[in-house]
Amino acid sequence: MYKGLMFFFTLFLSGILGAADPLYVVKDGKVDSATEKGFKVWRASACERCHGNNQQGLVGPSLIESLKVLSYKEFVTVMIEGRNAKGMPAHPHLNKVDEGTGKKKVDLLYAYLKGRSDGKVPKGRVRSFEK
Ligand code: HEC
Repeated sequence: MYKGLMFFFTLFLSGILGAADPLYVVKDGKVDSATEKGFKVWRASACERCHGNNQQGLVGPSLIESLKVLSYKEFVTVMIEGRNAKGMPAHPHLNKVDEGTGKKKVDLLYAYLKGRSDGKVPKGRVRSFEK
């Protein structure tokens, strides 16, 4: 009985700790490795072609501003389904899991862009402090 309680207590605690997991970490101008991967996904997907090198906006809107407003769910929907009629292509491949981090590419991208939008993640090529 006592053991059972401890088990649930541990689950409860890890739930709380898990929820406190930050989206991204920035230290001395460097980022955690998942956020660096997010930047690589950004580059590999050539988002800057329409949203600008530093997410400031070109034919597509500024993602610095958009990410202040969009919910996580809205972000995932626009990424995976696109808004073809309005010039935003679908990116279904972003549903794939990145092997190095075990996270979906769309989530890596979200963390990176959220950090940019919050003004915490520096612009341009970011490097990880984890290696
Ligand atoms: C061919 C040009 C093009 C490319 C490439 C592109 N986008 Fe877009 N994107 C747009 C346009 C145009 C819109 C505005 C659609 C609208 O009016 O609703 C948009 C909208 C968005 C939105 C929603 C903004 C909002 O405020 O509702 C997000 C988020 C976004 N793009 C992220 C990305 C990311 C990340 C990539 C790279 C994986 C990318 N886009 C690639 C053109 C592009």
